[in-house]
Amino acid sequence: MEQQRSVTADGEVLTRRRFFEGLAAFGGVSLVMAGMDALGFGFSSAQAAPPSLTGGAKGTKVVILGAGLAGMTAAYELTKAGYACQILEARAFAGGRCQTARKGFQHTDLIGHSQTCDFDDGLYINHGPWRIPYHHRSTLHYTKLFGVPLESFVNDNDAAYVYFEKGSGPLAGKPIRKGQIAADARGHAAELIAKVASKGDLDAALSPADRDKFVAYMINEGRLSPKDLAYTGTDGRGFAVHPGAGVDPGPGKPSVPYSFKDVLDSNAWRVLSSVAGYEQQRTMLQPIGGMDQIAKGFEKQVGSMIRYSTSVEKVKQSPTGVTVSFRDAAGKVGEIQADYCVCTIPISVLKNIDLDVSAPFKAAMSGVSYAPVNKIGLQMKRRFWEEDHFIYGGHIYNDMPGIGTITLPSTGWQGQKGVLLGYYAFGGEAVKVSMKTPAERAAFAVAAGQKVFPEYADSFETAFSFSWHLAKENLGGWAEWNEAGRRDAYPVLCQPDGRLYLAGEHLSYLGGWQAGAIESAWQQIGKLHARVQQA
Ligand code: ALA
Repeated sequence: MEQQRSVTADGEVLTRRRFFEGLAAFGGVSLVMAGMDALGFGFSSAQAAPPSLTGGAKGTKVVILGAGLAGMTAAYELTKAGYACQILEARAFAGGRCQTARKGFQHTDLIGHSQTCDFDDGLYINHGPWRIPYHHRSTLHYTKLFGVPLESFVNDNDAAYVYFEKGSGPLAGKPIRKGQIAADARGHAAELIAKVASKGDLDAALSPADRDKFVAYMINEGRLSPKDLAYTGTDGRGFAVHPGAGVDPGPGKPSVPYSFKDVLDSNAWRVLSSVAGYEQQRTMLQPIGGMDQIAKGFEKQVGSMIRYSTSVEKVKQSPTGVTVSFRDAAGKVGEIQADYCVCTIPISVLKNIDLDVSAPFKAAMSGVSYAPVNKIGLQMKRRFWEEDHFIYGGHIYNDMPGIGTITLPSTGWQGQKGVLLGYYAFGGEAVKVSMKTPAERAAFAVAAGQKVFPEYADSFETAFSFSWHLAKENLGGWAEWNEAGRRDAYPVLCQPDGRLYLAGEHLSYLGGWQAGAIESAWQQIGKLHARVQQA
C-alpha cells in the first residue's frame, strides 16, 4: 500500500509499495465496495461494519492467538454472537502493534537493548500505527463504538520544510518550505503549458473552446498573470516581509519565487504528490492521548478473556478440534482445547511455531516477508518548530538515509515541551540504524534534525526508539507481499487450514494498517460462523 515516502540517494521517491512490490501488484485488488462506494460516490476500505453473526454459536469454543486488533476484534464479535473465546497474548499487554510509548513503557529488543521511556508526563510517541485515513471505516467503527475521542493528524503542511541534500543547485541542502516549492513548481509548469496551449501548440489535443478553458485552468492553477501568462510568484508562498499594521510593514514585501531550474534541480518537487495517494490525505485522524487508546477500548471489552505473557509453542489439530500448547512468563507450560483457532500471530513469528497445517499451507507461509521499520520519539524541551518556525504538525520530507520522515506532533500545540518523530524509516537503511544502541540512534536522529532546525540539538532531552523487526512478537513492521506471493500464497492463507483461521493485516490489501487487521478478522470470523451454522 502506498504510504509514507522516503527518498533514495539518487532522489527517487520510494513509496512502500514501489519499494517492495512494484506497481504491478496494485492492480489485483478485488474488494467488495460497500454502500455509497459501490454506487461510485466515494471510496472506503472494503467493509464498513462487522459481519452479522446470526443463528447462534452452538456452544462453540474458539481460541484466539494474539490480542492485537485482529484478535480482539475476533473475540469481541464472536463473544457477542455467543461463542466462548479465550485469547493467548505473548506480551504483558493488549494491542499488538497498536502501542504508544509514554513514561514507564518498557521494551527490550532482540539485540538486548533495553529502554524505559522517560518522557515527561503527558508526552508520548505512537511508535506503531499513528494515523487513520478517513475512509478506514472499520477502524472508525470501533473508535466510535468504544468512545475513543479523535483529533486531526496533520499529514501535510505547506509551512513544513523539505530538506533535500542530494539535489543540485542553490536549493540543495537548504530547508525550504513545502508551500514555496509547491507554488513555484505549479506556477512555472502552468506558465509553460499555458503559453504552449495559447499559441495553439496543443490544438491536436484540445478543441478551440476547450483551449480557452484549459488556459483559464492553468492561469488559476499556477496563479499566472492573465495578461501575459507569466508566473511571478504568489502570496500563497509567503512574504519576504509579512503584511501587518500601519505603513511599516504595511502591505509587506512579496517573496521572490525560485527559478524553475532551481526547483527542478533541487529534487524537492518529488514530495508534492505525497498526499495524492489512496492512503494518504492532507488531514487524517489520531486518537487523543495516543493510538493505544484504541487497544484500551477493545481491552475493556475483551480483557477478561486474555491470558497475558503467554507464548504459543504448538498448535495441533484433529478432525474435531484444536489444541494449543503454551508457555507462560514463569516458564509454566499448559494447553488449551477449542473447536476452532483464530491465529493472528504475524507470519514472521508463526513460521517458527510448531504448526499442524497442510504442506501447501506451510509452503504458502514462506511467500511473504516482513518490513524492517524504525521509529524514534525525541522529547524537546521547547516546541521550537512552532515558536520559531510556525510549523504546526506535518512532515519534514528529506533525503537523509535512515531518516525517512521527521514528523512534528499534531497534538499539544503551543505547550511547553513536545515529542517529535525523529525518524520513520523502513528497508535496508532502517536495519542499519536499528543496529545502533538506543543512545547512538538518538544521536543519529538529532544530528540529522539539526541540519533542518538550528534549535534541535540544544532542545533535545530524551528519546525512545523502536525497531519492529527487532521486536520478538513481530519480527517486522508489516507484511510485504510481492506479486508472486499475492498470487500464489496469499489466497491459500486466506482460507482456513482444517480448523485454523489466520487473520491480521497480513491477510488484507490494507497491509500495515489497523483497518487491515480488523477487516481480516471480520472476514475470517464470518467464514468460521458460516461453517458453524452448516455443521
Ligand atoms: N500505515 C502506516 C503509516 O501510516 C504504516 O505509515
